Amino acid sequence: MLPSFDFALREAGRNHVHGMHPYAAKFTPEIPRKLLGAFTQPGDIVLDPFCGSGTTLVEALLADCIPIGIDTNPIACLASYAKTTPPSRNELTQIKGDLNIWEQNTTFFGNSSIQYDEPPEITFLNSSKWFHRDALKEVEGILTFIGQIESIRPRQFLLASLSATIVRISNQESETRWRAIQKPFSRGSAIAKFVKKARDNIKRVEEFYGKLGRDSLPEASIHCADSRYLDFISDNSIDLALSSPPYMNSYDYYLYHKLRMFILGFDHKKTQEQEIGSRNKHSDKSAPEQSFYTEMAQCIAEIARKLRPKAHLCFVVGDSILNGRLVDMGCCYKSIVKDAGLSLIDSYSYPQTKYTRTFSRTHKNHRKKSHIMLFQKLP
Ligand SMILES: C[S@@+](CC[C@H](N)C(=O)[O-])C[C@H]1O[C@@H](n2cnc3c(N)ncnc32)[C@H](O)[C@@H]1O
Repeated sequence: MLPSFDFALREAGRNHVHGMHPYAAKFTPEIPRKLLGAFTQPGDIVLDPFCGSGTTLVEALLADCIPIGIDTNPIACLASYAKTTPPSRNELTQIKGDLNIWEQNTTFFGNSSIQYDEPPEITFLNSSKWFHRDALKEVEGILTFIGQIESIRPRQFLLASLSATIVRISNQESETRWRAIQKPFSRGSAIAKFVKKARDNIKRVEEFYGKLGRDSLPEASIHCADSRYLDFISDNSIDLALSSPPYMNSYDYYLYHKLRMFILGFDHKKTQEQEIGSRNKHSDKSAPEQSFYTEMAQCIAEIARKLRPKAHLCFVVGDSILNGRLVDMGCCYKSIVKDAGLSLIDSYSYPQTKYTRTFSRTHKNHRKKSHIMLFQKLP
């Protein structure tokens, strides 16, 4: 049974490494914490097949479990990797020193390695609409600095810190609005934002080590993949699958992170194709409602194959609005899961208005609920 707990109460998911990278619809850390406490033992393998920015994976580490995270979005994977496989304490000290030297050389001594007079080498469709040219020159300088760092953890950590600042450096309106607006830019500000975020993230990792009470972590694995195809995970090997899967017609993760993907050289088209539930797919009616259920059923069948017999799958899902109609996702998931060899053990629903600030305060939005659903694989 689900543990008794007011799931609608939420802490801001910004503590220690949880706050390293922005991500839309982050899991409230308390929810996976409570569920991990109820359904795992130390050493268990925990799968989040839609891991986003890695909230479940971080909480799994804190619960002494071994996390496996899957997401089709490479920015989600970068953030999850940086949180769950952070630099060691020695590497953090080295990064602090490297950042100090690089910042001084780049911004204070007129011999800057950034040649503002030359056009930026990074170009993509409408890049001048999305970035001030000086901002792109500074981003290039940051990438050159990071490229010189050989160890993988410090390099990924710094790439994640750069990624975290991209929306603020660019003309993108906000984390969840793909629209260019004119933002003022002053020379040095992209570098300053990156350095500030990297230093902030160093503190977050140090705090995380403090919370763990040790300086070494079990090996987390993060895979940038489509959860309909999990051949690389052994069947019957997972002790708990725990996730907040994509909502139908609510978010466009590939779009929110498109500038990040351009800058870091990831394939946004593949991400777009693989993303289930995207608002763009459903709102223009090109993808019928049924396609969401078919795709999620494929994921659930695959996840069920990976679970040990009698192991649990726990999903936190949110209602959707499609073509003006409220879709009760609790009901939908109950029918999707039927054919996957899982049985519903328990569920709990609560109104989303308790914790969201929606743009549109329509009657339907007020009736939206979140559902915590607990399934068990048949023996
Ligand atoms: C609600 S978010 C998860 C947020 C996460 N719990 C957190 O705390 O950051 C859902 C995620 O599902 C991912 N996703 C969508 N389609 C997918 C697919 N076919 N395979 C794997 N991940 C997918 C999206 O990229 C998104 O990151």
